[in-house]
Amino acid sequence: MSDNPISDALNLIPYGFYALGSHTADDDNLMVVNWFTQVSFEPQLVAIGLQKTSHTYSLIEKGGVFAVSILRKEDEDAIKSFSKSRAKNPEKMNGAKFTPGPKTSSPVLDAAAAYLECKVVGKLETAGGHDVILGEVVHAEVRTPGEPEDTLTLPDIGWSYAG
Ligand SMILES: Cc1cc2nc3c(=O)[nH]c(=O)nc-3n(C[C@H](O)[C@H](O)[C@H](O)COP(=O)(O)O)c2cc1C
Repeated sequence: MSDNPISDALNLIPYGFYALGSHTADDDNLMVVNWFTQVSFEPQLVAIGLQKTSHTYSLIEKGGVFAVSILRKEDEDAIKSFSKSRAKNPEKMNGAKFTPGPKTSSPVLDAAAAYLECKVVGKLETAGGHDVILGEVVHAEVRTPGEPEDTLTLPDIGWSYAG
């Protein structure tokens, strides 16, 4: 507990931990996100809280597509390195194990148990450091069938990005 109950309550949300792939004609990138959720049944929409200064933000602005890789708990090592920024780590994608999604060409991690490919259909600009990116899911694949409790979450790795 801290002296900020809003932060404490936000930290009680059991966030998942995903790899967000972005793509343009001349670049691919992957970053980690936990502020990701479904927000509509029909059409099937998802939203991401995305840092305005991230390299991914500029690629999603240009490319208009993204992919979210969903991992199993035992595959945490396949994702952690994508918490680094491209600006400070220009080599970050060297050796990354991914393939382009069939519908959007956005990078999907080889280790993904499942993935969602999305087209950007909206953006909510905020006064803060992150905007909300709205995507319509245009393709998905479950490579390794499982249960939600098999999915990698932030509590699994003891990291925090909330508050
Ligand atoms: C545990 C964790 C969770 C994160 N979740 C998010 C998130 O949901 N949204 C976001 O914009 N950044 C998030 N980040 C920060 C980005 O991953 C980080 O800014 C990354 O360096 C951006 O990469 P890029 O500049 O190559 O796009 C998170 C970082 C960590 C360590």
